[in-house]
Amino acid sequence: MKIISIVGARPNFMKIAPFCAALKQYPEIEHLLVHTGQHYDCRMSDSFFTDLGIPEPDIHLNIGSGTHAEQVGRTMIEFEKVVKADKPDWIVVVGDVNATCACSIVAKKEHVKLAHIEAGLRSGDLDMPEEINRLVTDRLADMLLTPDRISGENLRKEGVPESRIAFVGNIMIDTLEAQRDKAAARKVEEIARRELLFEREIPELPEDGYAVMTMHRPSNVDQSEILKPLIDFLAGEVAQELPLLWPIHPRARKQLELFGLWEKAVSTPGLVLLNPLGYHDMLRLNMGAKLMLTDSGGLQEECCVLGTPCLTLRWNTERPITLNENGGASFLVGNEVTRIRQAFRDVMNSTRRPQRPELWDGHTAERIVEALIHAGKR
Ligand code: UD1
Repeated sequence: MKIISIVGARPNFMKIAPFCAALKQYPEIEHLLVHTGQHYDCRMSDSFFTDLGIPEPDIHLNIGSGTHAEQVGRTMIEFEKVVKADKPDWIVVVGDVNATCACSIVAKKEHVKLAHIEAGLRSGDLDMPEEINRLVTDRLADMLLTPDRISGENLRKEGVPESRIAFVGNIMIDTLEAQRDKAAARKVEEIARRELLFEREIPELPEDGYAVMTMHRPSNVDQSEILKPLIDFLAGEVAQELPLLWPIHPRARKQLELFGLWEKAVSTPGLVLLNPLGYHDMLRLNMGAKLMLTDSGGLQEECCVLGTPCLTLRWNTERPITLNENGGASFLVGNEVTRIRQAFRDVMNSTRRPQRPELWDGHTAERIVEALIHAGKR
């Protein structure tokens, strides 16, 4: 059996690492790893390969940045050449980034079987590019590997035949469990000092005495009317109460500069701007944080397992299993300050409550490889 798997952007890397590791147990399976190059900065890409022991990609498509159509179009053109030349039995895609969608379309047009890891997530929000990618990918996939039971139900409601759905658990938690000890050995202050965006004094960062945030979604950072009040609140209120560490995504930085908010972010003493972090550093900060504020999907899941109270800066989530009402650590607070302020007050009085959804046990990748082998025999 020959498998091609795809990565493109940062959130893919922690999902492909355990899959590559599990495949090593099966030398009879030929595996090619393709990196589309949607993310290309060392801090957004290469560092994860090194930190997570992902093998050097066999093929680089060097797609780079661009509009959605440019990224998807260029990826399709380049990936089609790979599929035609290498003729795999299966193409395996992960997550919901543009690379996932583009390569899924190519797979099916080339009559290659398609497996999707992290299938069935639905936010119901078609303004999110990721939701479009999820819908297209799942509609085309021959094997839909779901992280939780809610995702399986979503697929059944859409009419996906039972034979295509396999509930395998959350592969990203394989990575978290494999890397937990290495992350735990790091020191929060050392990470902050090493990754400071520019030289400055940093406040003390006691365990359970600092907050971490990440924010990069277009819905939060692309409009000044939304981003400005958020920054006013985060810098003017949250960072006044406890140090707020912000590893900043290139897109968010660009938008702060564009809207004239950069100076404020930089000059607030309690707001500590950091470079985009490597996997272990981010995991370590999450382990000791009093709270997380984020619009990232993966962090909602990591907070759930670690128990870090998480204010999710979105109006909806494709990961409802992580929500407080379902036993998780995450609270959907949108991007409107009155609502975030109230939730911030509430979680400042709460404590860490780890929760592990069914099959988030660190063995998802093994189940995925077994499912592929089983399907190959049918
Ligand atoms: C992509 C994913 C999103 C994911 C995010 C995590 C899609 C539709 N979105 O969004 O789901 O949460 O990655 O990071 O695929 N840039 C750099 N260096 C890089 C890559 C990007 O500076 O290595 C800058 C470029 O200016 C680029 C911008 O960041 O235009 C946005 O990058 P892009 O890959 O288009 O989307 P993300 O916002 O990163």
